[in-house]
Amino acid sequence: MLHSKIAGIGMYVPEQVISNQDLTKYMDTSDSWIQERTGIKERRFAKRTGETTASMGVEAAKVAMKRAGTTAQEIDFIVFATLSPDYYFPGCGVLVQRALKMKEIGALDVRNQCSGFIYALSVADQFIKSGMYKNILVIGSEKHSFGLDLSTRGRNVSVIFGDGAGAVVLQPATGEKQGILSTHLHSDGESAEMLAMYNPGTHANFWTDRKLADFEDAEMADMFMSHAMIDHAQNFPFMDGPTVFKKAVVKMPEVVMEALAANQLVPADIDMLIPHQANLRISQFVQQQLGLRDDQVYNNIQQYGNTTAASIPIALNEAWEKGKIKAGDLVCLASFGSGFTWGSALLRW
Ligand code: UT7
Repeated sequence: MLHSKIAGIGMYVPEQVISNQDLTKYMDTSDSWIQERTGIKERRFAKRTGETTASMGVEAAKVAMKRAGTTAQEIDFIVFATLSPDYYFPGCGVLVQRALKMKEIGALDVRNQCSGFIYALSVADQFIKSGMYKNILVIGSEKHSFGLDLSTRGRNVSVIFGDGAGAVVLQPATGEKQGILSTHLHSDGESAEMLAMYNPGTHANFWTDRKLADFEDAEMADMFMSHAMIDHAQNFPFMDGPTVFKKAVVKMPEVVMEALAANQLVPADIDMLIPHQANLRISQFVQQQLGLRDDQVYNNIQQYGNTTAASIPIALNEAWEKGKIKAGDLVCLASFGSGFTWGSALLRW
């Protein structure tokens, strides 16, 4: 049976480093609070102009394609995961197709936030398995810095996020036991409003009985985007951090165990776990739950913050570049985030 492998991987992060101390210029926070609660020391912010979610994705893609020994002309499908697209529509996939002067191939955008990369990888894996495509570009990229409330009001969300992009090229695997062994995707929409950006949107107060009590103003209730929404800072993401945290530390170990069980493996078999970089405390909790040693888990949230759909390919790329992942290693990717959605992928490198 056909299966897919990561033939090339790349990443791109903007040059501009924003330290925790830098954030104190805009909001009431501190380096010690951020480090203690999240592990984050610094993050990257893209240039205000000239650097976008799609353009960063293009840069990561160039590296991935070069390492895969393929050209943009040979790519036959694009899957682009992001929650911070260049346009509300169309998606970023077509912008990559244009920027890289690719053939008139299909371009699909995936909207699964922190789980976006694993969802995108899973979709691409199915296309390779079915024999439909042979060279798929999978990108996760975010320019969060453009949509964060950097005042004290938004500090619980804004200190976490950073910008960046990661990409892989998926191709059919030649070796029987190489490549993606399985992917596992889940969702539970019950808490959709616990980590969400409500506007612009078509909800028109439809969910008021749930969590959107702030939308009492008539103008806010029935508009896609209005002055009142901006006046009430309703154009920024909302997160109930503790609720997300509590669910993440249950669902991430669970979905790793699901992947291992599906392949008759156990945690001790994992050579490298790449958890979505949401919060170092979450990664440490997951590591502890699974009984993994430090050398079995890779974290780089300290340097980049949470880059949502880009966090897994960025961490995977770095771990591989540092020689922490070698041919034949068992690599597990796992994520949890807005939706809620979560997922895992098990790979033989
Ligand atoms: O990748 C997507 C998925 N997202 C996640 O997985 C995030 C999961 N959640 C988290 O990582 C944590 O909940 C946060 C890091 C977001 C927040 O940490 P926490 O320990 O849960 O803090 P909290 O929200 O319960 O707030 C505790 C206190 C509050 O003050 P009071 O009410 O105790 O006086 C907040 O106002 O900390 C305050 N606070 C801050 N103080 C300084 C919140 N944000 C900040 C800040 N700086 N940036």
